[in-house]
Amino acid sequence: MAEATGNQESKDYGIGIPVDNPVYKLKGSNNYDWGMKDRLSRVFNPKSGRTVMLAFDHGYIMGPTSGLERIDITISPLLEYADCLMCTRGVLRACIPPTYNKAISLRCSAGSTVLTELNDECVGVEIEDAIRLNTSMMAVMVAIGSKFEALTVRNLCKMIETGNRYGIPTLGVTAVGKELTRDARYLGLATRVLAENGAQVIKTYFCEEKFEQVTAGCPVPIVIAGGKKLPELDALKMAYKAVDQGALGVDMGRNIFQAENPVAMIQAVKAVVHDGEKPDKAFKLYNDIKSDRKSKDKSADLPQGNI
Ligand code: R5P
Repeated sequence: MAEATGNQESKDYGIGIPVDNPVYKLKGSNNYDWGMKDRLSRVFNPKSGRTVMLAFDHGYIMGPTSGLERIDITISPLLEYADCLMCTRGVLRACIPPTYNKAISLRCSAGSTVLTELNDECVGVEIEDAIRLNTSMMAVMVAIGSKFEALTVRNLCKMIETGNRYGIPTLGVTAVGKELTRDARYLGLATRVLAENGAQVIKTYFCEEKFEQVTAGCPVPIVIAGGKKLPELDALKMAYKAVDQGALGVDMGRNIFQAENPVAMIQAVKAVVHDGEKPDKAFKLYNDIKSDRKSKDKSADLPQGNI
């Protein structure tokens, strides 16, 4: 307990120095409460204002997706390079050691799988469990333009209500679906609807034409999903164009964990997102890390010690 007597007299009040009142710079986020901003600062690197989210929640609709059969083997080496991990609570508890200290974007909607009709979902995680898992963001799929539109918008609103109560941001995820066209008109509408309903961050897809209109029309940060596996250079080009046109990062899965060398790929993506590296240079970085790792693997095969 502080002593009542014998303390140094207070004297340094900084008289004449105005109190600094910094603006919270993340797009659309300045008016949130402290806890919400703190969580968003764990997701979006405060220096670059961007994020590399590593997505490996695919199993919740696709089962053991290629590259995710053994998360302990394939995903663990990537964790240190990500700002935020996008996964389900099942995999988080079972496969991710709680020692990485990374932001968690928890997949909170659940429902149909690829075996039936996608996007028939509910809110599958209660806020208490999200808090128990020290979640920085809660992800909900929303299928604008599909027959599950109203149902999934209700899920989003429910999650936002509970998230706001506890200062946890909600990530609105624009759904995939065969019938949904991924052009700027659709993506612009879908992302705006999610933001208008209060989602603090939106995940969507990149489109080659007019993507800057999608980001401009959305008042909160957009991150892009990678989608199906592309050649590495093409994936880096997509990430570059997306951030260049206003996305504040990526929430990328298959284009990282299905890459020929995932550890090299996540570092190349990071260089694009955080350092604004051009795709060709980032691809060179990818190849350099890849060959460096190959030669290290080879030297591990040689007999050790004095020879
Ligand atoms: C899909 O089930 C998930 O929402 C993924 O997190 C999302 O699609 C991002 O992963 P990818 O880059 O593989 O598309």
